[in-house]
Amino acid sequence: MQKLINNRLLISFQEKLPQIRSKELTCVLLFYNMYGMEKRLFEITRNSPVALKTYVLELKALEPGYEFSGEFVDISLDGFYLRRPLSVCGYAPGSLTILYKRVGEGTKALSAMVPGQRLELLTGLGRGFDASATRSAALLAGGGLGAAPLLPLCRSLKAAGKRVSVALGFNTAGEVVLEREFAEVCDALAIATVDGSKGVRGFVTDAIEALKPEFDFYYTCGPLVMMKAVCAALDGPAEVSLEERMGCGAGLCYGCSCHTLTGPRRICKDGPVFRKEEVIWQ
Ligand SMILES: Cc1cc2nc3c(=O)[nH]c(=O)nc-3n(C[C@H](O)[C@H](O)[C@H](O)COP(=O)(O)OP(=O)(O)OC[C@H]3O[C@@H](n4cnc5c(N)ncnc54)[C@H](O)[C@@H]3O)c2cc1C
Ligand code: FES
Repeated sequence: MQKLINNRLLISFQEKLPQIRSKELTCVLLFYNMYGMEKRLFEITRNSPVALKTYVLELKALEPGYEFSGEFVDISLDGFYLRRPLSVCGYAPGSLTILYKRVGEGTKALSAMVPGQRLELLTGLGRGFDASATRSAALLAGGGLGAAPLLPLCRSLKAAGKRVSVALGFNTAGEVVLEREFAEVCDALAIATVDGSKGVRGFVTDAIEALKPEFDFYYTCGPLVMMKAVCAALDGPAEVSLEERMGCGAGLCYGCSCHTLTGPRRICKDGPVFRKEEVIWQ
């Protein structure tokens, strides 16, 4: 029922968007600023395919002094009312790296953009993974592009002196991304593909089985069905990164809410990362 209400809210928000006038837009901007979100202009420095329908997008901030915070960015694309939320996979002062899959019209338009073109982003969005939840050893389990936000987490955990095992799952070898980047940082890595064309044949859970990792905390990101399977297979505390279609991306419309033990929570504002223990899986 809640989901139905959320979807209705999102649809009515989408329908009203073309009618929004400058006064309302000013209110939205004030709200963004109140919540630490910022609109920023970036220049594309790279936008090229790295795997099947998958692109790496490298962006340089046009204003000086930009430092990444949050978990994801919301990208405005010409001709599309709604922004597209994408996780940040790497960052340095003044720059961001994003990995995205071309799935629909928005990401198709994004994939056609070239270095030198500009993008307007909402930055400072979302609550990310908590590396300090790991005492000494962590397991990271990613499915498809769910691997992307796990890479900066892996780097943070290693910088804090923790042992990190990584299990990644893809459909086929052509979809595998970030293998080299994880291998350079983590202590143990296993990859599974559904068709067996690379690594272990099967799912992320099969890659975990092959790794036999020791860990006191785990983190997972990917399709819902995969995260449910991981959480069903593994005991112990964990964080999961949830995904939902977004309207405002700023905590205003409740279009992205999910069910938790403490009531409905907004994935864009209270998440996307939640403790496994508090999520009520749908
Ligand atoms: C917090 C968060 C982080 C994400 N990180 C990544 C990432 O790092 N790489 C990546 O490839 N994808 C990521 N996604 C999914 C990505 O947002 C969608 O694939 C993208 O918005 C699809 O846009 P489209 O116009 O091509 O598809 P369409 O299907 O044409 O889009 C129609 C509408 O639905 C929304 N939508 C469609 N699929 C999704 C989805 N899975 N999640 C949320 N909204 C969706 C679109 O934003 C748009 O408003 C993330 C989603 C969320 C919520
Ligand atoms: S998208 Fe509007 S509250 Fe999350």
